Formats: sequence, C-alpha cells, structure tokens
Amino acid sequence: MRLRTKPNALDTLLKNQDMVIFKPNEYKGKWNQHFNNTNPIYVELGTGKGKFIVENAKKSPNINFIGIDAKNEVLYMALKKALEEKELTNLALLPFNIENIEEVFDYDEVNRLFINFPDPWPKARHEKRRLTNIRFLQKYKNFLESNSLIILKTDNKPFFDYSLEEFKLADFKTISVTYDLKSEKDLANILTEYELKFMEKEVKINRLICTL
Ligand SMILES: C[S@@+](CC[C@H](N)C(=O)[O-])C[C@H]1O[C@@H](n2cnc3c(N)ncnc32)[C@H](O)[C@@H]1O
Repeated sequence: MRLRTKPNALDTLLKNQDMVIFKPNEYKGKWNQHFNNTNPIYVELGTGKGKFIVENAKKSPNINFIGIDAKNEVLYMALKKALEEKELTNLALLPFNIENIEEVFDYDEVNRLFINFPDPWPKARHEKRRLTNIRFLQKYKNFLESNSLIILKTDNKPFFDYSLEEFKLADFKTISVTYDLKSEKDLANILTEYELKFMEKEVKINRLICTL
C-alpha cells in the first residue's frame, strides 16, 4: 500500500497509547487485562487504513478487536477513524510485524482471525512472506482457540488457490469457499478499503472461512 509520508503519524500514534500498543509482547497472555474484560478477541492481520476493524468494533462492543500493521502511516489513518467514534474501548492497534506474531498472543488467546487482502507476493522467491504460507499458518494455530474461525478475503485468484492449498497442508478444516462474494449477498460482510475499491471495479472477491 503506497501512502504519502505523514510527518505527524508517529507522534499521533505515540500520543494515543491507550489504543496504540507499541510493545504488544508485554500483553501476551494478558489481553483480557488490557481490555479489562473476558470478551472474545478478534484479530485482523494487515489492518491497513482501518475501515474494517473500526466498523467491527463499533458494531460489536462485546468483542475486543486488535488490528495489526507494520506501517505507521496506515495505522495513523486507522487511528484517526477510531478517534472519530465515541470511545472505542474494545479496539487496540498494534504497529508490529506479523512475522513475530508468536510474541504477542498466547495459547487459545484469540477467537477469530481476519486476513483481508494480504499482499500476494507473486514471485516464487517471496513465497515465505505470504501471510498464508504454512510457516505463518503454524504460528496462528498456536494462539487460536479450537473453535476459532479464520477468514481470508482476496481479489487475487492465484494467491487464493495457493492459500487454499496451504490451509489444507496445515490441517485447517474448510467451512466455506466462495469465488464471488458479492453474489452471496452476505449482509454481515463488512467491506475493507481494498474490497470497496475492487467491488467498484466489478472485480470478484474470493473468501475462505475455515477452522482448526
Ligand atoms: C494490501 S493491504 C490491505 C489492507 C486492508 N486489509 C484492506 O483490505 O484494505 C496489506 C496491508 O498489510 C500490511 N502488512 C503486510 N505484511 C505485513 C506484516 N508482515 N506485518 C504487518 N503488516 C503487514 C501492509 O502494511 C498493508 O497495510
């Protein structure tokens, strides 16, 4: 995701450390303490500009949402969206590289995982960077509770087909696969920034829902 440099992004993130967690590894196994309740925890990987996670947090106050992205500039946009809402105490934003996600969550700590329009890394030599590479899937398994849903959405069909195979290899159980999400008329589906752009261009969206 290309963004113009935002000189005040880091400053603004630093000023909002009740929502932006710079050392998330300190909360490993203790996210319920951070949120001050025992509500389920839903995580979005590569949360981008935050439309999806902020709308979810608004819609479901009894679920705790955690959005992770390595880029300060996009998390800053997500934070701005969150601050426009009235006190979203059920949302945390983590400036963090998913590569090290095992440092952030403990066994059974997460109840749902969203992977929305991840970078497809089409070159074979970058395969290990794909967030659905089996290397990452094994990491996710360590912190997902046994009935968790993992929901992947992408416009990229070759990447989707690749991901289906990786989830299979990692022994995840498929619940549903669609190659044209729009045709499902799923009213509960919350659109991400990327999804909105693709839908406007009539690009078909693929979705996998699976569990452990
Ligand atoms: C293509 S964008 C999609 C954004 C958003 N999910 C959407 O659907 O609109 C992918 C996002 O994932 C983030 N990302 C990719 N790899 C990451 C990693 N290893 N750790 C943290 N964030 C990552 C990027 O910074 C970018 O914001």
